[in-house]
Amino acid sequence: MQLIQSLPKAELHLHIEGTLEPELMFALAQRNGVTLPYPSVEALRAAYDFDDLQSFLDLYYQGADVLRTEQDFYDLTWAYLQRCVEDNVVHVEIFFDPQTHTDRGIAFDTVVSGIHRALADGQQQLGISGYLILCFLRHLSEESAFATLAEAMAYRDKIIGIGLDSSELGHPPSKFERVFAEARSAGFKVVAHAGEEGPPEYIWEALDKLKVARIDHGVRCQEDMALVDELEQRQVPLTVCPLSNLKLKVVDDLAEHNLRWLLERGLLVTINADDPAYFGGYLGDNYRACAEALALTDEQLRQLAANGFKASFLPESEKARWL
Ligand code: HPA
Ligand code: ZN
Repeated sequence: MQLIQSLPKAELHLHIEGTLEPELMFALAQRNGVTLPYPSVEALRAAYDFDDLQSFLDLYYQGADVLRTEQDFYDLTWAYLQRCVEDNVVHVEIFFDPQTHTDRGIAFDTVVSGIHRALADGQQQLGISGYLILCFLRHLSEESAFATLAEAMAYRDKIIGIGLDSSELGHPPSKFERVFAEARSAGFKVVAHAGEEGPPEYIWEALDKLKVARIDHGVRCQEDMALVDELEQRQVPLTVCPLSNLKLKVVDDLAEHNLRWLLERGLLVTINADDPAYFGGYLGDNYRACAEALALTDEQLRQLAANGFKASFLPESEKARWL
């Protein structure tokens, strides 16, 4: 376990709104005059008992309502970066969901500026490099995604990529084929959540129609061996989130998780925390839980940490520092 702590790590699948700890949620609610529908931190944490992705998303969007000012987004991101130091996380690629905020009247600039200012301080004061990936909410329309992309154009220097998250079932990647084509031609890297609750066909669509550089989750690829072969041959990274999969009942038991199988099958698998404030663990916790439940060897743990850098959007010269 000392090995896990000492390995330099990258985090590639992390929703910044999912790092909002109940204590900070209450503090921001008080600062902004927002009344939360829970009497205490303990009562809120007790509500984090999910049946599936949607039951989590309902609470996650409700929690984000306390985020109002640029300073709120700064404080949220800064708290996460400080947590990274404990786990020896040295590079992060953070998702944010602008529509969650702009749809309730918060300016796009407020969100990006607060997160970006914390990332700049994280680089300067903590030595952590950080990139920002904007996710479209897939339960909303293509039109809304296009409007969000138009807002992002003025922030090309602060946003490295575009992703796709929220309710997967019933919202296949193909719904966003045109807006992803526009994002790619504007120079954004592209990724998408696929194969978390959705079927292997959604992973094929993310590859063939959205032309993504990485698949977020992707664990259901195992149901289609031709897809597993494709992911292995093309070395398309999967950003796997083990404790998330356990909490959202994608798997019943961590010992049954296919992370090790995928790794041994030659896929470029990485470990990530997804929404650590809701799922009970940051990146180090995810590594430790998998090491134990799946009996991962030291070599496999080193491989997983190295994969995080390989699969990152860091320039090759920067990756070389960590490999
Ligand atoms: N899946 C889909 N959408 C999300 C997730 C997730 O794991 N976390 C935050 N938004
Ligand atoms: Zn996610």
